[in-house]
Amino acid sequence: MMSSPVRTSAPDSSHSLIRISDLSDIQVKSLLELALKLEQSKWSVVAQSGLSEKLSRKVMVEAFFEPSTRTRLSFQMAAQRLGIKVVGCDFENASSLVKGEAESDTLLNLAALNPDVLVVRSKGGEDILTALGKIAVPILNAGFGSVEHPTQALLDLLTLTKYKGEVSGLKILIVGDVPHSRVAASNIQIFQRFGMKVAVCGPDLDNYNSKGVEVFNSLNDGAAWAEVVMGLRIQLERLDPKEKDEFLVTKRANYIKNYRLDPSHLKGLSPNGLIMHPGPFVPGVDFDSELLSDKRCVVHEQVSNGVFIRGALLLRALGLQKELA
Ligand code: NCD
Repeated sequence: MMSSPVRTSAPDSSHSLIRISDLSDIQVKSLLELALKLEQSKWSVVAQSGLSEKLSRKVMVEAFFEPSTRTRLSFQMAAQRLGIKVVGCDFENASSLVKGEAESDTLLNLAALNPDVLVVRSKGGEDILTALGKIAVPILNAGFGSVEHPTQALLDLLTLTKYKGEVSGLKILIVGDVPHSRVAASNIQIFQRFGMKVAVCGPDLDNYNSKGVEVFNSLNDGAAWAEVVMGLRIQLERLDPKEKDEFLVTKRANYIKNYRLDPSHLKGLSPNGLIMHPGPFVPGVDFDSELLSDKRCVVHEQVSNGVFIRGALLLRALGLQKELA
């Protein structure tokens, strides 16, 4: 009998990545090593390992229920580089979600298509977690509400490793809408696990003192402390309509004045420092485009690294990581 893509017994999630804590430190390191191998060999290590034939029979289904440029296209790029086929659609406008189907039911139906790997981005919520728990296909979380974005955390760690070598002791300041950011949520965990010192700067950060994270009220002071500054976008889509109006009418100007990454706020950052942002940034609001020509700015390198990390994660999800060792 064929096994069902929807679980009837205990889940085997060993090749899924839902939360960054699903990975041990050793697993994180070996994913980074594999990503570097893909980069250094320009993907030729895949063919050299005799995997091309196997990969050409694999299908990745992508389920993006929220907008995405970098994450979605870097999964697609990685799949194409590996020779995996990709199936997906514009879920927000052209799937049965428009007819009122729940995202959790859509997910169960995508699993029933029997792909080899399912890449999911969603607004998050208990119903989605319950649905994910029922799916036997390996799942890669491409962003879950404000809760987790583990593949971004891995690509950011890879970027830091490439520029800084050993990251233990490295000081990073995360700036902006930290409480609503799934990037911050996953990144803070992985940075702390690998011995980095993490600080935050932005509105509503009182809770962060208890998480072993330093809180800076002044971006200038934080930038002078940090070796790496990472900006974040304001997640207006996570606010209710009243909060959103309040932000746009009364708080936006203050946010720009205090928390925008721009040359005036980064005067204290050392010449060897790094400027990061997961993207997208809103020009003039959370990031000044002038910074793109600053030698310390690595936002496009983050995007390039994302393709290699997602390639490594696809190989792991398909159970092929060891064959490249
Ligand atoms: C982020 C996301 O979607 O969580 N972007 C990304 O994946 N690179 C950040 C954001 O949307 O602000």
